[in-house]
Amino acid sequence: MDIVEVTEGESRFFVPKQDPRLQFPPGSSPVFYNPRMEMSRDATVLLLSILRPEDYLDAMGASGARGLRVAHEVGVPVVINDRDPMAVDLIRRNVEMLGLRGEVTGGDANVLMSGRRFDAIDLDPFGTPAPFVDSAARSAGRYLFVTATDTAPLCGAHLRAGMRRYFSCPRNTEYHAEVGLRTLLGFVVREVIKYDRGVEPLFCYAHEHFHRLHLALREGAAAADRTLARIGYIMQCPQCLYRSEQAGMLPEPEECALCGAALVPVGPLWTGSINDDQTLCRMQEALPGVVAGTSPRIARLLATCRQELDTSSHYDYHVIAKAERVSPGSIATVIERLLALGYRASRAHYSGTALKTDAPLQTLREVISGG
Ligand SMILES: C[S@@+](CC[C@H](N)C(=O)[O-])C[C@H]1O[C@@H](n2cnc3c(N)ncnc32)[C@H](O)[C@@H]1O
Ligand SMILES: [Zn+2]
Repeated sequence: MDIVEVTEGESRFFVPKQDPRLQFPPGSSPVFYNPRMEMSRDATVLLLSILRPEDYLDAMGASGARGLRVAHEVGVPVVINDRDPMAVDLIRRNVEMLGLRGEVTGGDANVLMSGRRFDAIDLDPFGTPAPFVDSAARSAGRYLFVTATDTAPLCGAHLRAGMRRYFSCPRNTEYHAEVGLRTLLGFVVREVIKYDRGVEPLFCYAHEHFHRLHLALREGAAAADRTLARIGYIMQCPQCLYRSEQAGMLPEPEECALCGAALVPVGPLWTGSINDDQTLCRMQEALPGVVAGTSPRIARLLATCRQELDTSSHYDYHVIAKAERVSPGSIATVIERLLALGYRASRAHYSGTALKTDAPLQTLREVISGG
């Protein structure tokens, strides 16, 4: 395997040489490395510099990029694992080059997590993390981080695959990024609470082709019950843009308040907040002290997440403007008008045209059409 050196944050390490002519260069090498995930790794390093867990498992290391950076830049003891022997060789080489004392293991992540406990666990598999969440829920002490890149099943575009993996009906809606994130979170929650443990989302976001969860785990049945109370459904009208939210494990039949059609349940999914504002604030404060190539993008993401309402769906204001046959104008103006009317309104972090508000749909229509 041909290798080259790269630098991310304060760490220099080897990754496989890739063929840039291919549509997806990371797929061209025997060991995976995707430079476009640098922001995700930068954000993990930033968050861990605040949380400072006792130890950290990079359960699917590939080149070891995540775990190497956590060990080198945060100083947290790490275990880096991968089941592919070529990946394990590369991780060992990288650990040596950086002069780290990190432990490198080769094997199935589920076997490793079934036999040992780690204070923080990071799941970063190809596609769905679903097969790994149960063992991670048993093995993780205080923190569980999860990446999912199977956005089509999570967002309802591949409904049956989404149902099989996440035991949920995600449905393909205009707010599919939000549904994907909340479907994944709802699934992880169900895997954790059966062990009488609760989940508190610290920093969760959807970006390009992936969803990323950073969760704190809390001990006890009471914490698990508080978490379970946040599971519910978005009830979407199949004929118009109306939707409502229901708490609970089973959706109750409900009619659209605007057109009378039977609402379609989307879920079960997480309906609570997806971020902890104090954590985001501490990340903002710590960001200038961290060496991160994607700092400006992380700063923008954190700022948007902090102002974002915790509603479980958004409206695409371009879609509403089109339906109203008006030019959309700027989202800032629409938000200002809603705020002036006494409603809550914000942008969403994953799309420039996503607008979150507690204003009724009719009011939103009037505001967008300048009425
Ligand atoms: C997306 S890559 C990980 C990327 C890496 N975390 C990074 O930031 O560059 C997924 C890795 O998971 C490994 N993998 C897949 N199934 C596994 C399993 N059951 N146990 C351990 N590793 C696994 C693959 O060999 C691959 O190297
Ligand atoms: Zn309707």
